[in-house]
Amino acid sequence: MTTGFTFTCQALCCDTKARAGIFATPHGLVETPRFMPVGTLANVKTVTPDQLRATGAQLVLANTYHLHLQPGESIVAQAGGLHRFMAWDGPILTDSGGFQVFSLSEMRTIAEAGVTFRSPRDGQMIYLTPERSIAIQNALGADVIMAFDECPPYPASYDAVMDSTDRTYRWLKRCIAAHERTDQALFGIVQGGVYPDLRRLAAEQLAQLDLPGYAIGGVSVGEPANLIQAIVQATTPLLPPDKPRYLMGVGTYREMVQAIATGVDLFDCVIPTRLARHGNALVQGDRWNLRNARFREDFTALDASCPCYTCKTFSRAYLSHLLRSQELLAYTLLSIHNITELVQFTQTIRRAILNGTFKAEFGHWLTDSET
Ligand code: GUN
Ligand code: ZN
Repeated sequence: MTTGFTFTCQALCCDTKARAGIFATPHGLVETPRFMPVGTLANVKTVTPDQLRATGAQLVLANTYHLHLQPGESIVAQAGGLHRFMAWDGPILTDSGGFQVFSLSEMRTIAEAGVTFRSPRDGQMIYLTPERSIAIQNALGADVIMAFDECPPYPASYDAVMDSTDRTYRWLKRCIAAHERTDQALFGIVQGGVYPDLRRLAAEQLAQLDLPGYAIGGVSVGEPANLIQAIVQATTPLLPPDKPRYLMGVGTYREMVQAIATGVDLFDCVIPTRLARHGNALVQGDRWNLRNARFREDFTALDASCPCYTCKTFSRAYLSHLLRSQELLAYTLLSIHNITELVQFTQTIRRAILNGTFKAEFGHWLTDSET
């Protein structure tokens, strides 16, 4: 039995299935809908915990796969767990490693028992099973831990996805049996590829297990963008309304608004930090490359309406200069801004849902026409 977690729905949109809620964890509250930044190796790249807190981020994601390879969960456990180790006292979620094994490792073999793969770090063979993933996540000590799943590639045949989805369900039951800590919430992950009936079956099976939260995985793996919305629409109506719903690996404006309109609460994506490292800023739905010549003598704020430290303090010309000089500060400043931008975007949506103005304010994102 898990204790210390509740999900309270505060408002339902009248026009869509959007909802505003509060997900309570042992390390604090998460107001939903909300974007969560990715801190793969127990840090959000180039950003300190104080800077991260100032972006409005609440829940932060870290990765079992990467932390198992380096520094290893026993080091994190010796440090007193992930919260102490990375000095983030807010809620943390660890992904199970399933997805990363499939997307990052060569030479993997998948069997009923688990997955064997070669470490990209030092070439050693590593064996990950549902039990091992949960044991690692129990040692890391995040508030939310994810089931060890298999994310089928796109495209994949109906039969292949059916077999994989069945295995993910059997693995989930092994994860539940292996999970030892009552202060960590284990979320199940709905797979099923682009096949709505497999998605529905998986969602129904998972819903019966009465888990503290549910994720939708296996999206953003190369399928056409409009299929993401179809997958989410097939899945969310079958998930328990009183539990948080998390769409994994999705964090673009339109995809988040569409998923929120279908009843999704949480998102994560590497986009804000990855774009920052390429000199890009997210500005009110747009993407700018600050290396562009037009910014060299532009002494205005990056986004005058943004409350972040970067926008309150520096000019576009200064950011452009740092990037052109390859100064590391550029990546910190752009990451602070980009994370703030996406967190604030979901916070603005949350306020609109609470005010009953979600459709009026964000309805223009709900049509497919634009790219
Ligand atoms: N991150 C993005 N997609 C997925 C997925 O399908 N499974 C897991 N475990 N993590 C993900
Ligand atoms: Zn900003």
